[in-house]
Amino acid sequence: NKNIISISDLSRSELELIVSTANKLKQNPNPDLLKNRVIASCFFEASTRTRLSFETAVHRLGGNIIGFPDSGNTSLGKKGETLADSVKVISTYCDAFFMRHNQEGAARLASEFSSVPVINGGDGSNQHPTQTLLDLFSIYETQGTLDKLQVAFVGDLKYGRTVHSLTQALSLFDCEFHFIAPSALSMPDYIIDELNDKGCQFTLHDTLDGVVDNLDILYMTRVQKERFDETEYQHLKSSFILSAKMLEGVKDNLKVLHPLPRVDEITTDVDHTPYAYYFQQAENGVYARQALLALVLTNEYGDK
Ligand code: CP
Repeated sequence: NKNIISISDLSRSELELIVSTANKLKQNPNPDLLKNRVIASCFFEASTRTRLSFETAVHRLGGNIIGFPDSGNTSLGKKGETLADSVKVISTYCDAFFMRHNQEGAARLASEFSSVPVINGGDGSNQHPTQTLLDLFSIYETQGTLDKLQVAFVGDLKYGRTVHSLTQALSLFDCEFHFIAPSALSMPDYIIDELNDKGCQFTLHDTLDGVVDNLDILYMTRVQKERFDETEYQHLKSSFILSAKMLEGVKDNLKVLHPLPRVDEITTDVDHTPYAYYFQQAENGVYARQALLALVLTNEYGDK
């Protein structure tokens, strides 16, 4: 029963296996892999990309989806049922359970009550491991390696679960990190402590100036309106805005990534540069989630 709750649950070799499997599935679709399998897709918090790419992944592998796009009409949302009771029952209906929840630790809790593998599609500001898998695949696809890259994370590093998970994953590949955020949105201490413990190189900045020119990956994030009160949000929003002009003189191989949705942190003129890769990155969510399902539920591509 392989749960995928935190990116830290996966080793370097497991991450590499998922990336190579995503690549195989992108080149050679496998439309019968999940035939007769039922996967539950349970979203207790809003999503566009994660839910739809996950459900597309299941359909394209020949599996069946049950579930709900928000918890508003469920017994949990309407009748006060606990998450534990909901999960105990839903897991008897399916072969794997994919969920997003606004509470940190919700997926870990669900895994304690589920009889089938639980895959975390984002829990509050904590972790977003399947986003990291598609990020790693996109980085590998564009750079040909995951090792020794210069990677900058920009924006809301405090609440950005995607940057927490991706930093932890890339710390296994000897990358050098550059964290660019206002002090109110800086990377949590536990991530910084982990990097120090592993001897990883990193720098902290409050501006993009002087950082962009040497990068391989520039990972932009949104200031997450839903995690602030309105006054604080108005003060912090638009902290960093990337425009095409700021990309003059960067390395040819630079790719700008963003987990999306964006608000105004990347101006649309960047979309037309060779550096923009965020829409291809979102498409890669299908292949990365297919790979994860294949490895969690079948022995077709490996036995991990
Ligand atoms: N990247 C991401 O998690 O997007 P959604 O919120 O649309 O799922």
